[in-house]
Amino acid sequence: EEDERTERIEAALEELGDDVVVLGHNYQRREIVEHADFIGDSYQLSKEAAEADAEYVVFGGVTFMAESADIITDDDQTVILPSMEASCPMAGMAEALQVDSAWAEITAAAPDEDIVPITYMNSYADLKAFCASHGGLVCTSSNAHRAFEYAFERGDKVLFLPDKHLGENTAYRLGMEDEIAKWDPWDPDGKDAEEVAESDIILWDGYCQVHERFRETHIEEIRADHPDAQVVVHPECRREVVEAADVVGSTSTICETVANADPGETWAIGTEIHLTNHLQRWHPEVDVLPLCGDACMDCNAMRQIDPNYLTWVLEELVEGRERNVIEVAPEEKELAEVALDRMLDI
Ligand code: 13P
Ligand code: SF4
Repeated sequence: EEDERTERIEAALEELGDDVVVLGHNYQRREIVEHADFIGDSYQLSKEAAEADAEYVVFGGVTFMAESADIITDDDQTVILPSMEASCPMAGMAEALQVDSAWAEITAAAPDEDIVPITYMNSYADLKAFCASHGGLVCTSSNAHRAFEYAFERGDKVLFLPDKHLGENTAYRLGMEDEIAKWDPWDPDGKDAEEVAESDIILWDGYCQVHERFRETHIEEIRADHPDAQVVVHPECRREVVEAADVVGSTSTICETVANADPGETWAIGTEIHLTNHLQRWHPEVDVLPLCGDACMDCNAMRQIDPNYLTWVLEELVEGRERNVIEVAPEEKELAEVALDRMLDI
């Protein structure tokens, strides 16, 4: 069945030629990344989308990535997401309306200070547009520290959305750990606007359900069972996990770490399981282990991109039918592009 599907995908891609480019995030299934023209992290894929000449960009990833691709590609290019169900739960944790009302409260509590909002790439286009309209920008896990520096050159405080762990880990990286306050309006014991506005780094209460499941005990167990193992984790992991790891970085940093390892080295990987599996296949000379054994750190959103859907959208394109087009509303597009361009410039 897989062989037949592979043949169908290859035939459709051949038929479409230069009209289509397939992008695959590092967390996509093997059957998707093996058909991708480019495999990479969120930042690399946004750059590939910006540089693509093809009429169709078929995105193996999640909705916010396809939206970003639609924002930065030309108007005559069309972005296609093989499944409309591939929505990152973290992106849904910061809705623009909610952020707007929090913003009103926090800025009212600090009337004499400039707050710069930064949103992680893992957010929807309306939130990116919101950030641009308040002088802010987008970042990914590979450039969050630079986005913070950009913000502090222009303002007094940062509101970082939606990932509190990436925000906290970035604050530590910049030596600003004493400046953190968490904004959680749903916590009855949480800080109110006046209290959070006293800190320079205000973190939204979002998180990645996949990375939050890694615990320090996973690292302790790996080190006990494999004394030579080194540990690399994604900065969406909890602070204590990042602190206990040897290397922290975006999915491309994780890939480079394993690619640069000497044969025979052991690396435990604290990120989504599909990337760990790819690294095992791509680097058989390195001993690559999932950080938490068989406990499944599987992203349900990424998993929605089933190879049968990839086959379907490509074969439909061959027939002249565009399926699952991701199109950001024009009023959001312009501003969201400003926020993304600021990121691409830093
Ligand atoms: P990066 O590929 O930018 O490291 O992002 C990880 C992620 O969670 C994407 O959803
Ligand atoms: Fe979202 Fe986490 Fe999945 Fe990335 S791994 S798409 S942040 S849920």
